[in-house]
Amino acid sequence: MKRSIQKYFHYFDVSELERMRALYGDGELGERPVLASVYSAIRHRRLPERYPEAVGYGTNFCEAYHKAIVQSMGCALLAQSWLRPLAAYIGQRPCLEIMAGTGALAWALGQYGCRVLPTDNFSLRDTFGRRWVKVRRMDALRAVKKYGKKVDFVLLSWPFIGPLPQQILAWLRQHNPSCRLIYLGEWRGGCNVDDAFCDFAQEDPEAAALVAQLRKHYQNWYALHDSIYILK
Ligand SMILES: C[S@@+](CC[C@H](N)C(=O)[O-])C[C@H]1O[C@@H](n2cnc3c(N)ncnc32)[C@H](O)[C@@H]1O
Repeated sequence: MKRSIQKYFHYFDVSELERMRALYGDGELGERPVLASVYSAIRHRRLPERYPEAVGYGTNFCEAYHKAIVQSMGCALLAQSWLRPLAAYIGQRPCLEIMAGTGALAWALGQYGCRVLPTDNFSLRDTFGRRWVKVRRMDALRAVKKYGKKVDFVLLSWPFIGPLPQQILAWLRQHNPSCRLIYLGEWRGGCNVDDAFCDFAQEDPEAAALVAQLRKHYQNWYALHDSIYILK
């Protein structure tokens, strides 16, 4: 993992937000209240249609709320604007989620009626403050070997960089070639997948129009370049 990302995976003490408020008021760009209201909505499982521009500011408050929101929801900025068309595409077809973290993505798609089984080996258990759904404890490759032939989609959001994403895609290609990997994260040179994965993965041309639509809505935190991919 890139050094710059590591700080988001250490347990963040949310009382820090109150201390910062006492010190810095509403922030350099007046961003604190807007970020606080997004955080509060997420705490109550209300995912926004889209996020305010302030998520892209490089301020202290932006960094602090980034940590708090990762802890509470996860790494990707889950927004209804792209979850809705993604859920419509998935429909009732079964999905497995690996490295699911809090399970917020599985929960959000579940709100649209999608059937997602979230799994994770809980190796980051000190980072995520809560789970949104019951997440089955399971190693990612083991989960794919166990359920991968029975699902139409495998969801993978913000994996750790390493050989696993490519092993998973290779297994799917061999054992269930019609299954698609829905990947959320950074691409080549980023903090989630290595070059070997980027060379190996192929975008599904049949999903190109949908992916273009999803990417129009997908947003990033400051200095991050994650996006959404439908891969085979
Ligand atoms: C960076 S977090 C991303 C979590 C979530 N998908 C998100 O987008 O917020 C990576 C997750 O992968 C899990 N993990 C790491 N290695 C794993 C493995 N070999 N099998 C299953 N889960 C794993 C960690 O426990 C952690 O929850």
